[in-house]
Amino acid sequence: MVSTRNKFSSKFGFIAAAAGSAVGLGNIWKFPFEVGKNGGAAFLLLYLLFCFVLCYPLLITEIAIGRNAQKSPVGAFKAIHHPKWTFMGILGVLAGVLILSFYTIVTAWVFGYFVEMLLGNFRVGDQFSEFIQDIEMIGGYSLFILAVVAFIVSRGVTRGIEKASKILMPVLIFILFFLITYSLTLDNALEGIKFYLVPDFSRINVEVIYRALGQAFFSLSLGMGILITYGSYLKKKEDIVFSGAVITLADIAIAFLAGLMIFPIVFSQNLSTDGGAGLIFITMPGIFATMAPGWGIFIGSLFFLLLAFAAITSIISLLELPVSYLVDQHEIKRDNAVWIAAGIVFLLSIPSLLGSGYSAYFTQFITYYGSEVPIDFMTFLTDVSSNTLLPFVGLLTSLFTVYVWKRKKLFQELNHGSENFSSSWLSKYVGFCLQFIAPAVLAVTFVVTILEIFFGVQLFS
Ligand code: PFF
Repeated sequence: MVSTRNKFSSKFGFIAAAAGSAVGLGNIWKFPFEVGKNGGAAFLLLYLLFCFVLCYPLLITEIAIGRNAQKSPVGAFKAIHHPKWTFMGILGVLAGVLILSFYTIVTAWVFGYFVEMLLGNFRVGDQFSEFIQDIEMIGGYSLFILAVVAFIVSRGVTRGIEKASKILMPVLIFILFFLITYSLTLDNALEGIKFYLVPDFSRINVEVIYRALGQAFFSLSLGMGILITYGSYLKKKEDIVFSGAVITLADIAIAFLAGLMIFPIVFSQNLSTDGGAGLIFITMPGIFATMAPGWGIFIGSLFFLLLAFAAITSIISLLELPVSYLVDQHEIKRDNAVWIAAGIVFLLSIPSLLGSGYSAYFTQFITYYGSEVPIDFMTFLTDVSSNTLLPFVGLLTSLFTVYVWKRKKLFQELNHGSENFSSSWLSKYVGFCLQFIAPAVLAVTFVVTILEIFFGVQLFS
């Protein structure tokens, strides 16, 4: 039977969409602050290692499952005739919706800061917490963002997702290069570069390893079935092995470049690299405020526009996940599915919105066993979804591929578009990784996360 499924029209379209999903707040917001907190270049090295050694094989496996099944995750496991594994797809969709519910709120902060920069309000220091407690404004921005993304997704794979990504990704890269050129000309830029590129191996410990792995996973959009979904829109003649390598490299390159943009700026003002999540919202605007007035506004707004673009292409993919589930499994029309999914995500985002200081209940939502400090709802959701569900689904994906679907079928699928793959050294490595490296590393991460986060067992202090 010839599949009538809507398909990406070109290799570039697919790569732009998948790289657009991968490149997001995780690269430009989270990556630099994790590097800053976890030992600079040492963290960078580990992150690179995990991306190449562990994540790339998983990434091409997810795409191959999707293309083979011609379905989004839930249907994909049914279609490969293993209904028992359908729950994996459901877990993926669930993780995606949960991540989306707080990702939209952080994107609303980013968008809000873009508008503030344009208006010349640099909101230095404490004004960030005041800003995010204005729930009507942030709620309004998040509704706006969801509506824009819903509109794009409702236009379908080729006219919506692919077209938006093909425009936004090149613009994003252009802005990034512009900002790097600027930041490298600043006084003291070299100190920033040294911190970022000269590794101090004494900084590597178990916690740094564990965080670098989580970062690689989240950043490449793995473990959630997004790549299964995008793979289902891919033509048989396309080369997954090659496209997967480009997507991985693009994701790594953008994260790397984001660090190259930020650290010279931070060092030029002798500020701490340890700003954590506030590095973007507190440290950076403080720096823009000290620039010559016109420049500060210009560079500051470009910076937040860059972040907003990166976030939007990721939100597109996160929304496509429940949409394709509703379309494939419940035969709901795409237009309706998009608005239903966006509506549910908006409702689910309300606790994260309220948990930024506005409501005491959601701000101090839960205190884990063994800890004394309550955490807010958004942090709780991050722990449940990205730190726990993602490695878990990643673990199941590797087990499913090796023991249920079988390596031979995976390689047959990858051979379409990449003829000699199954006889290459790379296929041997991918098989080895799926059978041994991925299950071992992901199972350890999963257990450590559960013990550390939810039961307060201090393994790394
Ligand atoms: N990879 C995105 C980022 O780095 O921001 C976030 C993300 C998007 C995670 C899509 C997971 C996902 F399925």
